[in-house]
Amino acid sequence: MLRWGIVGRQRADAGVCPPTFWGIAATPMRVRRFLKRPASPQQFISLTLISEPIPLLPTLPSNMSMNFEDCGKIREGYPRPFPNTPTNVLQQLSLSGKVAVVNGASDGIGLAVAEAMAEAGANVALWYNSNNAAVDRGKELTAAHNIKTSAYKVDVSNANSVSNTITKVVENFGRIDIFVANAGMAISKPILEQTLDEYHKQMSVNVDGIVHCSKFVGEVFRRQGFGNLIITSSMSAHIVNVPTDQPVYNGTKAFVTHFGKSLAREWREFARVNIVSPGFFDTKMGASPSCVNEAYRMSALGRQGHTKEIKGLYLYLASDASTYMTGSDVLIDGGYVLP
Ligand SMILES: NC(=O)c1ccc[n+]([C@@H]2O[C@H](COP(=O)([O-])OP(=O)(O)OC[C@H]3O[C@@H](n4cnc5c(N)ncnc54)[C@H](OP(=O)(O)O)[C@@H]3O)[C@@H](O)[C@H]2O)c1
Repeated sequence: MLRWGIVGRQRADAGVCPPTFWGIAATPMRVRRFLKRPASPQQFISLTLISEPIPLLPTLPSNMSMNFEDCGKIREGYPRPFPNTPTNVLQQLSLSGKVAVVNGASDGIGLAVAEAMAEAGANVALWYNSNNAAVDRGKELTAAHNIKTSAYKVDVSNANSVSNTITKVVENFGRIDIFVANAGMAISKPILEQTLDEYHKQMSVNVDGIVHCSKFVGEVFRRQGFGNLIITSSMSAHIVNVPTDQPVYNGTKAFVTHFGKSLAREWREFARVNIVSPGFFDTKMGASPSCVNEAYRMSALGRQGHTKEIKGLYLYLASDASTYMTGSDVLIDGGYVLP
């Protein structure tokens, strides 16, 4: 390692000025800044590069990352055991006897996910907010798959409502294995045309709602010693949508993606957390008439997704087929974000 130094500016008619950076290591950036300072015509710069070896720092204790010697010793408790799950993949995908909560379950992606959970054998708590179709959909799933379902009216932006309903689900179903935090909304406008009320509304559902659900179901997961949280984010957490400017919606989804990854670490001892980032799906929140042609053009597959095409991904993440996955953010967008 070399140390750089500048002795100082020197007047043509004078002796050497006091050194400017004497005694401190002058970085190349400092040298450049120094040289850019205005100098009078009589002045010229005398630059001396002091190249003297600086001793390397002593090797730090390996609490940041392991050296080869440390790496050779297996720490107590490692490796963790493989999970006691079936090797047959179809058996891994079974959710028989498990309890899944899905919010935003009356329609769209949430309904498809509730169907997927039920078709794989889970008992399902369907949460809705304004659309009570979840009540009938639940009954239909019970009849079709011989599973238990129940519908709950919950505004996810209301922390008490979320907390109380999670308590009720545990009372009614005995436990929660899977929680799909899927509810969301968008008021797609440029920030300069968006009111603060509209901003707060999106934050309250897309950000607060996910935080409320995660916090209260996380307490259940920790108590149980197991659990599986799946968050519906969006490709809008990865890209800036065109041609619709919607910075607040995009920002809310970026929040939940990183929040979910962070929970995956925080909950590593008892629960898995993964994120699904859909591109355009043909639902109420899918591509609006003003952007649908651009949605077709941007998608490599030339269309929006059908909700039946997202069921398998949520089932995979909910099931024992994905026991080695946590903190993943899975894009499912027909190739929209490729370019
Ligand atoms: N479709 C797409 O192209 C697309 C793309 C990327 C991401 N997503 C995300 O996918 C998720 C599902 O959207 P979707 O496409 O299936 O549209 P959707 O059918 O309109 O679903 C949105 C759901 O969110 C629920 N919801 C809204 N506000 C709520 C609140 N305050 N409390 C509880 N639930 C609330 C709605 O429930 P009620 O109807 O009962 O009020 C509705 O079921 C959303 O998070 C969305 O951001 C969708």
